[in-house]
Amino acid sequence: MCEKCSKGKFYITTPIYYPSARLHIGHAYCTVATDTMARYKRLQGYDVMFLTGTDEHGQKIEDKAEAAGVTPQQFVDEIVTGPKGVQDLWKLMNISYDRFIRTTDDYHVAAIQKIFRKMYDNGDIYKGTYKGKYCKPCESFWTESQLKDGKCPDCGREVQDAEEEAYFFRLSKYAGRVRDLLMNTDYLEPRSRVNEMVSNFIDPGLEDLCVSRTSFTWGVPVDFDPGHVVYVWIDALFNYMTALGFENDRYHDLDKYWPADVHFVGKEIVRFHSIIWPAMLMSLNLPLPKKVYGHGWLNFNGEKMSKSRGNVVDPYILAERFGVDALRFFLLRTFPFGSDGNFTNELLINTINVDLANDLGNLVSRTVAMAQKYFGEKLSDVQEADEALDAPLIDMVSTLRDRYEAQMDKFAFQNGLGEIFKVIARANKYIDENAPWVLAKDEAKKPRLARVLYNLLETIRICGGLLTPFMPDTAAEIQKRLGGAAMDWDSLAQFGVLARDVVTVAGPALFPRIDVEKELQALEAMNKPAEPELPLAEAKPEIAFDDFEKVDMTVVKVLTCENVKKSEKLLKFTLDDGTGTPRIILSGIAKYYKPEELVGKTLVAVTNLAPRKMMGQMSCGMLLSAERGDQLKLVMVDDSIPAGARLV
Ligand code: MSP
Repeated sequence: MCEKCSKGKFYITTPIYYPSARLHIGHAYCTVATDTMARYKRLQGYDVMFLTGTDEHGQKIEDKAEAAGVTPQQFVDEIVTGPKGVQDLWKLMNISYDRFIRTTDDYHVAAIQKIFRKMYDNGDIYKGTYKGKYCKPCESFWTESQLKDGKCPDCGREVQDAEEEAYFFRLSKYAGRVRDLLMNTDYLEPRSRVNEMVSNFIDPGLEDLCVSRTSFTWGVPVDFDPGHVVYVWIDALFNYMTALGFENDRYHDLDKYWPADVHFVGKEIVRFHSIIWPAMLMSLNLPLPKKVYGHGWLNFNGEKMSKSRGNVVDPYILAERFGVDALRFFLLRTFPFGSDGNFTNELLINTINVDLANDLGNLVSRTVAMAQKYFGEKLSDVQEADEALDAPLIDMVSTLRDRYEAQMDKFAFQNGLGEIFKVIARANKYIDENAPWVLAKDEAKKPRLARVLYNLLETIRICGGLLTPFMPDTAAEIQKRLGGAAMDWDSLAQFGVLARDVVTVAGPALFPRIDVEKELQALEAMNKPAEPELPLAEAKPEIAFDDFEKVDMTVVKVLTCENVKKSEKLLKFTLDDGTGTPRIILSGIAKYYKPEELVGKTLVAVTNLAPRKMMGQMSCGMLLSAERGDQLKLVMVDDSIPAGARLV
């Protein structure tokens, strides 16, 4: 139990991200969910440890760094700590992590070496020969029988044959205990994932796991066998413990926080967290985490979200356009956490308009505006509640916290929010039922009017407080508008905490309505896939300076330009080259320009090239143009440069 509070500790983690590319909104999904859960637990009074970080080793990173011409460390540093990198993104998204681990941190590397050796010493890691299949993008080894149609069962991509001397972990030894853990406890949720793991992986027979590689070097070296690096998933999974001080002196809170209360992970890495992770902990006689929750995936317009498909939804762009809170809210309001969801821009905008602008935003604006209009800044004369008129709303609000808690404790974010928004809808209806503007016309009804507004303000306080984990800035703004009203956990279960002479503060709309059509067009324009890379022409061999000096490049002005008869390619130019005698050059660029658009332009020509006959006409020189892929542009220079000027 924590000394500071009565609730105890709560240790929650996100998967640590591969910094092999920039993160997209699908990555932010899990981290926003984890942050919301961490904030919820803090609100309840738990002593929370929220860990996130980056998983920086492996062949994929080594390959990408090489392609980028930098060291793997430079490569990951840029994506993790560089501008608009992982850490910047979490800051932007208001992610309140308590600790950030990088698997390249010294203390972690040294701890992984000790852990590997311990399992070697206890006989659970042994040396053998690895023969099988390897999926490079997933960094996963597979046996023939595990492949799906000959491809990686996780990502569906091609796998490679692999054979090498390697260390193995005796995963098979733990098959029975792991099966029991999954089948007979609540270790893994949602429950549907248990069946998936047991029937796809455990029951067909768990084989020992290859846990070292020799074909690349970017990993934690096996300290007693040079040339071997530790399999990236051992390195990665133990982050959850090294970040608390397991096998290192950097941190000292393992006893306090371990075992983890929950690991939130995406569905494709449930296998690692529900089979390999507990088996390794069993091998070292360590306590198992209490729960692994495998959430669903977000697709984008029905397709897998990935940068390579050019359909990435950039969290920076979305947060900038809609606000961080709206984005956080949307992710958890729209998709049930345990299932897959389909992200579309339209859904995002509609959710903001309906839930946030209309329902929540209007409730707050209308209520505060009426309170100020009829009473000034300070509410007064609040009479007792009217049983018949007020009980339906008050009862619903008084019990909201319990209903919300029941959902949140099951990680059912969508339903937790659903409870709040049912109350918000009820409160908007209550305004219409009680028509404060009618009450305001009769001085004798002022105390009743005050009660109606009080009930609404109190509803807003409780809803705002319960929204804090989802939308921290919005909740703070609501609190400000209610004169700094209480929003602590206990107060959220009590209707009537707000002072009857509450001072309200007016402000702009919390969520302005978005013009759906206009916004969709703007987003579509931004979200177009990047232009494919154009091939570079092959470089020519080096030349001597003297050779370069032999070429006369002269500024020329176009006097006339016309198509050459019977030629689809050629344009005929008459040029002023400064000599007083017009120069004729034929150029094969008819496909790119209309003759009339070139008259008067200032170009560059090679003027000492031997004349050449083309389509029966002499061409004296060559116009310089620039070409990449199938694009071509004439080199045009500043019109103020006189004809005849030489390029030097
Ligand atoms: N490095 C491993 C995790 C090691 S944990 C000990 C990894 N990294 S990852 O960057 O590829 O993925 C991080 C998380 O993002 C995973 O939980 C993954 O499921 C999640 N997501 C990646 N794309 C996603 C969506 N499109 N939708 C939802 N979650 C997604 O795996």
